[in-house]
Formats: sequence, structure tokens, C-alpha cells
Amino acid sequence: MKFAVFVSGQGSNLQAIIEAVEKEEIKAELALVFSNRRKAFALQRAESAGIKTLFLDRRHYATPQSYDRDIVIHLKEAGIDFIVLAGYMKILSAFFVKKYPKKILNIHPSLLPSFKGARGIKDTFTYGAKVAGITIHFVDEKMDHGPIIMQESIKVSEKDTLETLEEKIHKIEHRIYPKAISLFVDGRLKAKGRKVEVVS
Ligand code: GAR
Repeated sequence: MKFAVFVSGQGSNLQAIIEAVEKEEIKAELALVFSNRRKAFALQRAESAGIKTLFLDRRHYATPQSYDRDIVIHLKEAGIDFIVLAGYMKILSAFFVKKYPKKILNIHPSLLPSFKGARGIKDTFTYGAKVAGITIHFVDEKMDHGPIIMQESIKVSEKDTLETLEEKIHKIEHRIYPKAISLFVDGRLKAKGRKVEVVS
């Protein structure tokens, strides 16, 4: 199986995925790293690991769909079977999602359906929530909405600052995202409606 990781920023999750592939904890080929941001540090991480990268500039496309259509062309050329979003801060069009039904995974730094959007950790923290967390889910046509694969919670202590909470959340992300991807690759995730079962 070949997969692509979509990124927009730092790429710390990408790094964890690269290492899991190298250790064969994920038994699939990471064939492409795609970014909508030319300056994403994640692209440098991919290049250092010898992984093919692709950047497409949204400003050169008339609509979100025409942008996504071009991405799909590249994915098909590269023989990509599934996609992992790792800090990809752009909403995929319905056109794109329909091309890869239940074949796009996303990680979001909150316990969905709470605190959707681009600032999951900050919104959890400033809301004063006592519990924070991470959600890994299949992507459907609504933002931060698809069937949940895995969630992990963590208590927010009174001593936590936004920075310490971010650090704790990222640490959990780096541990559990490779595991979820591995379950997917091994065919162990069975989705029925909103329920995702892990089978042995
Ligand atoms: C991660 O915390 C990820 O959960 C979040 O962006 C960060 C990317 O960090 N994704 C979202 O908020 C998606 N809505 P990274 O670039 O260091 O992996």
C-alpha cells in the first residue's frame, strides 16, 4: 500500500509517521508528502527523509475543486491508496473526499465534537475545559466530523499553561497516530455508519 501525508505546518506528526514507517511499525510506503504551504517545515522533514514532496499554490486555481482535482491527478500518478492528514489546515472539497471514501484519516487536537476548527488546543484551554484530548477519525464531507477511529483524553491541570498542554497533546498524537495508521494498513478498521470497530 502506498500513502500520502498532507501537511501545512511544522510536521511533528509527519516525523512520527516517517519514523514508524522506517521501523516498519506501519507496513506501507510513504510515497508522497503534499503541502498547500511552500514554507511548511514539514516539507523539509520529508526531503531530509528522501520522500517525494509536492506543493501546489492555491492562488493559481479558480476554485477549491479545481485545486483538489489537480491534487487527485498527482495522487493517481503516484499510485496513492490512502491519505493521512497531519496538520493539513485546509478543508478538502466534497469532490476530493468522494474520490477516497473512508481512505482519508485526520488527527484533531481535541475531543470531537468539541472544539472543531483550526485551534483545537487553544479553544479547549481558553474555554476552561478540565479534560482535553485527541481524536483520529475518517474524513467525510463535513469538517472534523467523520467516524471516530480513536480518542485519548488527558486532564487539564490547574498548573497547565497553553504551552504545557500543547506539549502534552503533541506527545500523545505522536504516539497514537502511527498506531491508528497501522491498524488501517493492516485492514483492522471496520467502519459501519459512525461506528469504527477494531477487528483482530
Ligand atoms: C496537530 O496538533 C494536529 O492535531 C493539528 O495540527 C497540528 C499539526 O502539528 N491539526 C488540526 O488542528 C486539524 N484541524 P504538526 O504540523 O507538528 O504535526
